[in-house]
Amino acid sequence: MRSHRFECTSGLVAPPEAVWEHASSPAGVNWELRPLARMVFPRRVTRLEPPDVGGDARPARCWLLLFGVLPVDWDDLGFDAIEPGRWFHERSTMLSQRAWEHERVLVAEERGTRLIDRVHFTPRVPGSGILYRPIFEQIFRHRHRRLRRRFGSRALSFRVESERLVVRPWHHDDLAVLRRLAADARVMRYVGDGSPWTVAQIAEFLARQATALAADGFCLGAVVDRASGEPIGLSGLQRLGSTGEIEIGWWLSPERWGAGLAAEAGRALVRFAFESLRLPRLVAISHPDNAASIHVMERLGMEPLGLTTGRELGLRHPDVEVIVYGLERESR
Ligand SMILES: CC(C)(COP(=O)(O)OP(=O)(O)OC[C@H]1O[C@@H](n2cnc3c(N)ncnc32)[C@H](O)[C@@H]1OP(=O)(O)O)[C@@H](O)C(=O)NCCC(=O)NCCS
Repeated sequence: MRSHRFECTSGLVAPPEAVWEHASSPAGVNWELRPLARMVFPRRVTRLEPPDVGGDARPARCWLLLFGVLPVDWDDLGFDAIEPGRWFHERSTMLSQRAWEHERVLVAEERGTRLIDRVHFTPRVPGSGILYRPIFEQIFRHRHRRLRRRFGSRALSFRVESERLVVRPWHHDDLAVLRRLAADARVMRYVGDGSPWTVAQIAEFLARQATALAADGFCLGAVVDRASGEPIGLSGLQRLGSTGEIEIGWWLSPERWGAGLAAEAGRALVRFAFESLRLPRLVAISHPDNAASIHVMERLGMEPLGLTTGRELGLRHPDVEVIVYGLERESR
């Protein structure tokens, strides 16, 4: 039975406590859904927190009314786990869905909250996911628009710090360093098809990272040496081709190799991905002969998942052979 996934992320100006207070009440959920739909919660559910839901509470049957009036579905609402103020993981069944999972994560950030909704559903009628997916996605986009209007909207930001490094989005002044790295045969030997990047490829890379930052709040950004304030490489998170997985990656200026910097950036990014974003898993890819990069993956506790090609992963270079490593949040 085919399942479907999507996610929505928004940057809000309000602190997580204020967003949680609203989002964990039946009235708050219905405020987000208005005017598209309304959920009729059983009277015993006054908060979407234990003891009303989650823990030992039995699933709560909620009718779903289209435009607030027309009964179209029901939801046997259950929660796997809830950490009040930070996240919940709803695991329900519906009249139309064999399985419905909705994880909401609130990340405290310097200027407010990053709110992430991850939805994973399996329809009862085979093939009907093609119809449901755009409807559910539109409903969640609508909820995020309402949340941004209520709590104030801000651009998503990305900043991960470690003892010696900061990973952050690209600034205009970093261009010279990126051009130098992308033209260096030692750096590019195992990247893509092994050739240096043209000016157009660099521009396309930067445009892609800006789009990813706006949608997901992470990207492959610049690695900055905290002591000098100078960019010395590239690292961060990005979506891996067409796989739906999130990949961690790194390139450093050769003068800085061998000082444990890639592993240090990697450890900070793994913490950010698992503890802040609550991603279920991370992957990394490498040319099978790239011993340095494979060592960094092993240093982070990643395990080999097998050899594949760029084609299988939906990468820009279909014929390159790559080894995939993975790390599960729950295995740490
Ligand atoms: C991959 C890269 C970022 C590693 O950076 P680094 O800062 O030198 O790596 P670290 O110092 O954190 O090393 C981590 C581990 O790998 C080992 N290692 C580093 N370079 C190695 C090499 N060439 N061969 C074997 N092991 C190596 C280190 O000894 C260390 O292991 P240890 O902790 O047991 O001592 C760097 O080599 C690079 O920029 N390469 C070119 C770009 C690239 O190929 N990126 C990956 C694309 S998939």
